[in-house]
Formats: sequence, structure tokens, C-alpha cells
Amino acid sequence: KKVGFIFDLDGVIVDTAKYHYLAWRKLANELGFEFSKEQNELFKGVSRKRCLEILLDIGKIKATQEQFDTWMIDKNVDYLAYIEKMDAKEILPDVPRVLEYLKKKNIPIALGSASKNARPILEKVNLVSYFDSIVDGNSVTKAKPDPEVFLIAANNLGVNASSCIVFEDAVAGIQAANSAKMTSIGIGDSDILDEASYNFKDFTEISDSFLESLLSKKSK
Ligand code: G6P
Ligand code: MG
Repeated sequence: KKVGFIFDLDGVIVDTAKYHYLAWRKLANELGFEFSKEQNELFKGVSRKRCLEILLDIGKIKATQEQFDTWMIDKNVDYLAYIEKMDAKEILPDVPRVLEYLKKKNIPIALGSASKNARPILEKVNLVSYFDSIVDGNSVTKAKPDPEVFLIAANNLGVNASSCIVFEDAVAGIQAANSAKMTSIGIGDSDILDEASYNFKDFTEISDSFLESLLSKKSK
């Protein structure tokens, strides 16, 4: 059976989670409240709109539609300023090795991200050419933990959902992969990502032999 790999972007390929956090914290501070790193965990993998809803809940702020729309734009403008100077140095350790390994074996690779900024980021870090399909926040209507983004990616790759393997750093992303019946690999804190099929701190822990065994298991 044909196997496919799906990578989340933020926090998996590049550490943009810190820039999202800085931009949301700036907005929170401007609105007069604090926003902690712990609270930011809930924002990982979650759409921009949903993030703002959660942020306003945290700050107990009621917004008009106009304010809501303005703050969404403000946050993204700040985020874009943070990522403006991004380059290949911001690719997380060993991500290129794993991409290269899969490419050499002709395994189809997709991006499955909630971000509307996914494509420009991949371009900045020069990784676009590895991806057979890029599914991002512009192509989905339902945000993670809904499996839509990963199901579209599987479909684009021409691979059955159950033959896909997903790398994710967000709880919502692991849940999305699980409900798509995919193999989920948590990248980050295994206590937070305890619903994943496998857990690794980062890609340096993912050996070629692990990938090999996963491939042979999934292709049966
Ligand atoms: C990723 C990040 C989230 C972010 C979402 C939308 O999933 O993990 O923290 O909110 O993308 O990103 P965007 O770039 O469209 O605001
Ligand atoms: Mg992520």
C-alpha cells in the first residue's frame, strides 16, 4: 500500500510558535491583560479566528465585530513583521534530513497547516520543493481538531487516510490526525501530546531506522 507523510508547519518544521505567541501577547497587553506561555498551548494548531476568540475570553473582553476584525488584522501584521526576516536557519533540527530521506524513497509528502501564512513561510525557508501538496488555512473550512485539513492532504497525495503519518506539535493536530485514522507522531512534550501514536522531543530523535520500520509497517 502507498504510504504518505503529512507535516504540520508551525512548531514542527519551523519554530514560528514563538512569533505567534509574541504577536498574541502584544495584542493582549495592548488590551490590558497578560497572556502566558501556558495559555499559548491552547493556540497551537488553532485557526487565527478561534485564537482571538480564546484570547478575548481570557481577557474577559467583549468585542464588536469591527473590533474583532481589526484585532485579527493587527495580530497578523505584527506576526508578519516577526517572520519577515525568517530564513533557512529557522528550520528545526533534522527536519531537512527526514524530508530528504522520504524524498529519496519517493514517498509523497504534504503540508497540513492551519496557517494562512504557510506558503510564504515555506518559501522563506526554501522547502517548497519537498511538498507534493500544500494544504493550509486558505484551503479548509473546518479547523483542527477537525480532520478536514489532513483528509484533503491525503486525497491530494492519492493515499488512503489510514496509510498517512502525521507530524504534529499541537493537541488539536494530534486529535485531527487520530480522528482521520492516521498515525500521529507528537513532536514536543509527550505529557501534553499523550494522545499521539508516537512521541518525540524533536526530529533529532527520529532515526532513519524508525522511519524505515514505520514505512514497512504501514505499507503492509
Ligand atoms: C498554526 C499555528 C496556530 C495559528 C494558526 C493560524 O496552526 O499553530 O497557532 O493560529 O496556524 O495561523 P495564521 O498564520 O493563519 O494566523
Ligand atoms: Mg503546529
